[in-house]
Amino acid sequence: MAILERKIKRNIKSISSEVLNGTNYSRSDFARSLLNYPAMMVPSVQEPIIEELAEVLNNEVSLLDPFMGASNTLVTGMKYGMNVFGQDINPLSLLLSQVKTSYYSKEELDEAEARIINHINTDQSYTVEINFTNIDKWFTKNVQIDLSKIFRAISKESIIRIRKFFWIVLAEVIRLTSNDRTSTFKMHMRSLEDIKSREVSAIKTFTSISKKNIKNISDYITILVQNGHIQNGKYLKEIEVVWGDTNKEIRTDKSFNLLVTSPPYGDNQTTVTYGQFSYLPLQWIPVHDIDNSIDINYLENAQIIDTKSLGGQARSNIKDLEELMFNKSRSLKKFVTQFKDTERKKAEKVTRFIYDLNKSIDNMLPKMEKDSFMVWTIGNRNVNKQIVQNDLILKELLASKGVKIFTNLEREILSKRMPGRNNFSDTMSKEKILIFKKTE
Ligand SMILES: C[S@@+](CC[C@H](N)C(=O)[O-])C[C@H]1O[C@@H](n2cnc3c(N)ncnc32)[C@H](O)[C@@H]1O
Repeated sequence: MAILERKIKRNIKSISSEVLNGTNYSRSDFARSLLNYPAMMVPSVQEPIIEELAEVLNNEVSLLDPFMGASNTLVTGMKYGMNVFGQDINPLSLLLSQVKTSYYSKEELDEAEARIINHINTDQSYTVEINFTNIDKWFTKNVQIDLSKIFRAISKESIIRIRKFFWIVLAEVIRLTSNDRTSTFKMHMRSLEDIKSREVSAIKTFTSISKKNIKNISDYITILVQNGHIQNGKYLKEIEVVWGDTNKEIRTDKSFNLLVTSPPYGDNQTTVTYGQFSYLPLQWIPVHDIDNSIDINYLENAQIIDTKSLGGQARSNIKDLEELMFNKSRSLKKFVTQFKDTERKKAEKVTRFIYDLNKSIDNMLPKMEKDSFMVWTIGNRNVNKQIVQNDLILKELLASKGVKIFTNLEREILSKRMPGRNNFSDTMSKEKILIFKKTE
């Protein structure tokens, strides 16, 4: 075992910077192309690491991603025939993951697409199906009418798995045709001149995204079939993706021998607003077509998902949290205690985030088997113009629970869709990949 582990460590260390930086990686790869979810992991970066660790695990792998996002980790695991389980608090992440981990035949999607487009083209109604505060701010009347036709046509499909696929197409159409700028994840309306002069057709966009998505998912499924992981339309190992708050629990009784994840790097509001990104698409997708167990009222306003995410809420007294967390992480203590007054107030958000991250780790560890591996991709960020060393903090948190580092790597993140440089440090253009082994 020790010899094999040494070999794997060497192999991981020798992964080229080209592969790690994703330089040659195609942005139109299936895993990233169905819906442009924020901060997606680059599958080709994780793939060689997952492949090496699978060898130590005798190629019998059960993979967990407790912050699955666009589920790129899970689909990478599926290429290797692993059991996969993912969880996320964002309902749009869940829907996207359900689609990306489902089996679809190209014929059934082509047929459904033809039916849907036919319904859209024969639909003469001007009724707008959805209403929410400020709908007219975020969508022009024409776009609302077109989206409603698409909505009615998808709703007519009798199979929920098929509806889910086309709801994701609709989500991407909404991203491209609403009045929200695509250049930021935060909701930010385009200028009135821009809205007036823009020529967008939601129906035309739907048709082209649908064709692209059908091709991409079919190509990916063909690879799984060729690799022998799908037989008679069924993936041979277990797949489960669920809605859940990792800070509260991981909603499964299963155990795992590999965890591969990329957590948020700070509270959503000051880093990546996954919730705001999802707010408009989620207004148009019926919750019962996603999951009935979702128990946050995410349609109420654009902040709900972000405040419910890691570090989004002021749960307990900050003094208690500081005492607890400073004991676990010297780097956190050093960072926070350098500030006074308003700067100190800002730094408290970091403590709250790390407190939530720590609780999430406490929920993960009991699910991880003895001798399992954990691969964490994490970047640093700036608060008060100083670097929050998330990588060191994470190492210290895990060390406080008896989990040691196995090996580590560094990568440039030029290929990742992140918000502007605002709030991110120079070191944020680099990410650490920390690999831990749980030996107890
Ligand atoms: C960086 S993304 C994950 C990227 C992902 N590994 C991929 O391959 O695309 C982080 C995810 O964590 C989720 N998240 C934040 N707080 C959470 C919580 N308390 N419970 C579960 N998921 C959470 C966000 O919704 C977001 O989708």
